[in-house]
Amino acid sequence: MFSKNTVVGVIGAGAMGSGIAQVAASAGHQVIVYDSSAEALNKARAALSSTLDKLVEKQKISREEADALITRIAYEKELHSFRNCGLVIEAIVENLEVKQKVFSLLESIVKADCVLATNTSSFSIASIASASQTPSRIIGIHFFNPAPLMPLVEIIPGILTDNEVTRKCRELIASWGKTVVTAKDTPGFIVNRVARSFYGESIRIYEEGIADIPTIDWALKTFGGFKMGPFELMDFIGNDVNYKVTESVWEQFFYEPRFKPSLTQKRLFEARLFGRKSGRGYYTYGANAPQPTPVLDTELGKAIFNRVLVMLVNEAVDTLYLQVASREDIELAMTKGVNYPKGLLAWGEEVGMDKVLSQLTALYNDYQEDRYRPSLLLKKWSVRKQKTTS
Ligand SMILES: NC(=O)c1ccc[n+]([C@@H]2O[C@H](COP(=O)([O-])OP(=O)(O)OC[C@H]3O[C@@H](n4cnc5c(N)ncnc54)[C@H](O)[C@@H]3O)[C@@H](O)[C@H]2O)c1
Repeated sequence: MFSKNTVVGVIGAGAMGSGIAQVAASAGHQVIVYDSSAEALNKARAALSSTLDKLVEKQKISREEADALITRIAYEKELHSFRNCGLVIEAIVENLEVKQKVFSLLESIVKADCVLATNTSSFSIASIASASQTPSRIIGIHFFNPAPLMPLVEIIPGILTDNEVTRKCRELIASWGKTVVTAKDTPGFIVNRVARSFYGESIRIYEEGIADIPTIDWALKTFGGFKMGPFELMDFIGNDVNYKVTESVWEQFFYEPRFKPSLTQKRLFEARLFGRKSGRGYYTYGANAPQPTPVLDTELGKAIFNRVLVMLVNEAVDTLYLQVASREDIELAMTKGVNYPKGLLAWGEEVGMDKVLSQLTALYNDYQEDRYRPSLLLKKWSVRKQKTTS
């Protein structure tokens, strides 16, 4: 199905499309990038050229390699140039109708055996494929931003995707040097589902006045070993993007309380306090911005970390229980996709799954809220353990 000679088409020359094009061209493929905006195409071409110049300067690649890579990518204003592609990856605006239209147009251009992939973060593969004549060749290939640097790629077969298409896509993307995991076509796939409580529970702790923002960030970095605290990370991702992902996962899970967005973040989003890119979010950025200091209270810090951790572990366990992905893939997804210091299932075992269950049960009893409902799998494990030790 695929070989080094496979021509890869990329639709959308924005943040993701241009990164995906670079990854495919680095792996030796001829790549064609199409965007409805000529400006986006020009920007993408200029950005790649300057990225490669920097890599040459840092001696990460040779001048010849950089030049060869550039010649492998063609920037086209006509979708018709995709007719010889063996794989097309769509990375356009996150709008279902627009995506469906592009896929149905593509089908009138490409050959019958061309695989059509979407990089969507929030729509189901089933819904995108529903506008297609041949949904068996439509699949999700979800890269993380920035695509050339982030090792993880989630492969998401839709309900009608051919098994062979899934297998070949896994093989191809792994040959590009990526860590590949397979996820069921469920909201947020693996990473964007399991990571929700890192943000949500941290905001909840802040809303309750248990600690201020810098203290929560300090706690997660110091006691959890996370590279960035949740508020630093939300400001980095953008509170617009992060809020919208949370809202979409929550809505698509039929308003499951575990994924409920917070009013605090919604207000930041409404006020356009997006974070780093707008100069202010949870923190203020710039030369004269104040540097808030955390309260260095070890007991408080450990309690904050434990509460967020048990929520994360619960989500990972439930993701396993509902067979969204294998144990190995859930662990890989969180360590390679969002740089968690440990896989959450291994982390839960290190702490003791019984302790995770009892802490969640205590939270559930205190709050009487479904967001703290422990996964049934945690209970099953606990019962099994009691039986084997008695
Ligand atoms: N940015 C991220 O962190 C990230 C991560 C993973 C997945 N995604 C997903 O990748 C996709 C692209 O996201 P992005 O951040 O690169 O967006 P972006 O806004 O940077 O780029 C989108 C590009 O699509 C082009 N476009 C819009 N409509 C088009 C059409 N009908 N035909 C051709 N081109 C069209 C726009 O001109 C723009 O250049 C989305 O589905 C998004 O959910 C984004």
